[in-house]
Amino acid sequence: MVTTYIQQLWRMSDSSRLDEIAVPKRLVPPHIEALQAYQPGRPADALKSELGIDRFINLASNENPLGPPKSSLRAIEKALTEINRYPESGGFKLREALAEVYRVRPDNVVIGSGSESIMANIVRAFLHGDDEVVTSEGTFIGIYVLVNSQGVKLVKVPLKNYGFDLDGIANAVSEKTKLVYLCNPNNPTGTMFSRADFEAFIKKIPDHVLVILDEAYFEFSMGIAEFPDSMTYRYDNVLTLRSFSKAYALAGLRVGYGMGHEYLINYVNKVKLPFEPNMLAQVAATAAIKDTEYLGGVLENNDEGMRYLTNEFEKLGWEYVPSCTNFVMLPTESPEKVKQINEGMLRRGIAIRPLTAFGLPHCFRITIGLPDENEACINALKELY
Ligand SMILES: Cc1ncc(COP(=O)(O)O)c(C=O)c1O
Repeated sequence: MVTTYIQQLWRMSDSSRLDEIAVPKRLVPPHIEALQAYQPGRPADALKSELGIDRFINLASNENPLGPPKSSLRAIEKALTEINRYPESGGFKLREALAEVYRVRPDNVVIGSGSESIMANIVRAFLHGDDEVVTSEGTFIGIYVLVNSQGVKLVKVPLKNYGFDLDGIANAVSEKTKLVYLCNPNNPTGTMFSRADFEAFIKKIPDHVLVILDEAYFEFSMGIAEFPDSMTYRYDNVLTLRSFSKAYALAGLRVGYGMGHEYLINYVNKVKLPFEPNMLAQVAATAAIKDTEYLGGVLENNDEGMRYLTNEFEKLGWEYVPSCTNFVMLPTESPEKVKQINEGMLRRGIAIRPLTAFGLPHCFRITIGLPDENEACINALKELY
């Protein structure tokens, strides 16, 4: 009986014996067996006590170093006594606030526990069987995991000069392609494709192919004239995804949104858990999206930090890829060099992101921090390069 085997699993101390157990093999489809679970970094507190340091600087996760908007904190405080209730059904207030900002109708907006959760629901709603997904190598790993976990074929087109090769992606679209995933600007390279590139690309994509435009870093690139803000196009087969985790500093609450034709949004809503994101995330995001003053400060800190870091890289003769985001990627001579830099940085209490998991093992990524964090980062790097 299944229960017997499961109990046996719990009791096992030797994990190498897992292979001897037949039932889990039969329970788990091969495409799930092949997945790797997300590998979180070591908790900052553990690293601090191990290294005997007071301050740990995290420049590894593209988070916002300024702390959350005060408007969001006030909204959370007000809502705290209500958390015995389920969140407002349908998340109408947040969807309405987003609809107002982007001049769409609430029916064109879906919200979720992070934009990654919406991505998961898109995958669940639209992909099955022989469908194929086309995207790039060297982009957001979340999409690879979601597509692979659906057991659907994933076609990855190589990067071109560390950017999306939109011609290559359009050429890879076949009869079986159901979905194309684009990330603009791209994580982890920080590059963006232009209006002209996107306009030429979308003409080549058949109407029945769904295009996800992941704009998690939109706020950092919206001021660039050549940036193709997907919301100015409103193609019926394009779904835009954006996040409150980056520019709005609400990563820990998990809240993001998607926008598109209500015909598509309806299907996403069919598979979405009804009460996500949670109540505090909803009120915090509703306050944040109206807080233009906060966003202004974020962009200022980011511009200043990016200028400082890239000036230093240039003075030191280090290669970097010009970025339109809140992070910057540095290619090095080898994966070993990245390993050495990463370990040295950790010993100095600074986390950066090696990009092996993104298929770029000779590169690492640094998130823009506060001015003193950026300076500490450069000083530590100077000792290691
Ligand atoms: C390109 C990209 N898309 C989506 C996400 C997920 O964002 P969220 O926190 O809204 O789920 C990330 C997070 O790092 C990202 O880099």
